[in-house]
Amino acid sequence: PETGCLSIVLLGASGDLAKKKTFPALYNLFRQGFLPPDEVHIFGYARSKISDEELRNRIRGYLSNEKSASSENLENLRNFLQLVKYVSGSYDSEEGFQLLDKEISKQELSKNTVEGSSRRLFYLALPPSVYPSVCKMIRHFCTNKSDLGGWTRIVVEKPFGKDLGSAEQLSAQIGELFEEPQIFRIDHYLGKELVQNMLVLRFANRFFLPLWNRDNIDNIQIVFREDFGTEGRGGYFDEYGIVRDIIQNHLLQILCLLAMEKPVSLKPEHIRDEKVKVLQSVLPIKDEDVVLGQYEGYRDDPTVPDNSNTPTFATVILRINNERWEGVPFILKAGKALDSRKADIRVQFKDVPGDIFRCKKQGRNEFVIRLQPSEAMYMKLTVKTPGLEMQTIQSELDLSYGQRYQGVTIPEAYERLILDIIRGDQQHFVRRDELKVAWEIFTPLLHRIDGGEMKPVPYKPGSRGPAAADELLEKAGYVQTHGYVWIPPAL
Ligand code: BG6
Repeated sequence: PETGCLSIVLLGASGDLAKKKTFPALYNLFRQGFLPPDEVHIFGYARSKISDEELRNRIRGYLSNEKSASSENLENLRNFLQLVKYVSGSYDSEEGFQLLDKEISKQELSKNTVEGSSRRLFYLALPPSVYPSVCKMIRHFCTNKSDLGGWTRIVVEKPFGKDLGSAEQLSAQIGELFEEPQIFRIDHYLGKELVQNMLVLRFANRFFLPLWNRDNIDNIQIVFREDFGTEGRGGYFDEYGIVRDIIQNHLLQILCLLAMEKPVSLKPEHIRDEKVKVLQSVLPIKDEDVVLGQYEGYRDDPTVPDNSNTPTFATVILRINNERWEGVPFILKAGKALDSRKADIRVQFKDVPGDIFRCKKQGRNEFVIRLQPSEAMYMKLTVKTPGLEMQTIQSELDLSYGQRYQGVTIPEAYERLILDIIRGDQQHFVRRDELKVAWEIFTPLLHRIDGGEMKPVPYKPGSRGPAAADELLEKAGYVQTHGYVWIPPAL
């Protein structure tokens, strides 16, 4: 592994993302020994004029519950916070970034007793409107200068633009300043345990190889539900809507992993080549394959315009025109303010031909991957009802992580991804051409929604979403199982 001073700079240090996700992820990495204090220092950068101590106080509450923390944790927390310094400056002024560079160099000098290499990671926890100017400043004033090795990497989060045109423009602006291997585009769903498990599942198991195609699979659903609305984020959300917030990135990334062909190897470029290919095979979205919804009360948010046409719910069916998948609908569904909070993937198989048990009505074989909460994979199958009679019943083979891997803490997505960035592994990050195709798929639909040509139907908060979405599901061929519910095993 590389050694030498590692500087992690969080731009937008007092924003929501930094406080809620990035700093806690860094703290967890620190606690597990991945950020050795003799090599690492962390900078927060933002506009407000505050001291190091004030920044530490602002983030402390998000890192751990001090009241219940053990003394060891308290010590960890203190040590971690000691590594955090603050630099204030604007996002487009030379002075701020010159000062930042000076502070980083100072730390490098004090820490690099032997190697003298310099690793600089810039995490843009900022609105994308300032990405170009911030990248320019970093490029001109803050890149690593050591002759003894090291690197400069930048990390950006979605939204990467609003449609194909704006995304390409953003990509071009950043691409002029940094090389692709320096740019890490985060989609945090790629850091989730069961998403990371997908390629292992598909390509390391004989079970799945012969079944994973149009001959056996009837339809696939990728579903994201949240049981809360856009409270506090209405302003952001209304500009983007559920398709840009969840479907075009998180769910589409999952689709790639489910549908792509086997990569030549596990090299990031090989994996991403396959993802791009499958995206290129997605057919244009038809209006009749879309249901949009907006929950009642969404417009009551003062930051949301009264006549907002922004969907908070969407079901979109994607169709992949290749040998493996022609005719299999990929149903992507996401919604806010629904009846539950969960994300899962549901692969539904076709009926058994020549059924002698007459068990069709009980439901089909389904393979379900529960991404969250209660990570699990289970296969719904038909068995003989235990007892004297010859009857059949739906049951399951269940791999529930909480039960099977007791005592194992599943890392947070951001933790894992930040470690990948430090290690320079781009496997779980979105490549520029991948992003472009993702936008190509959704841009025509998004323009129709933005132009008011397609309208969301209202639905009750706390419901399953619009009834039309369930009708679309049925039309696509999904058969609901009746009288069967999977219950996560109690621990
Ligand atoms: C974010 C979206 O990318 O993902 C949010 O902007 C959403 O709207 C969040 O709530 C969900 O992430 P998770 O990890 O809580 O499922």
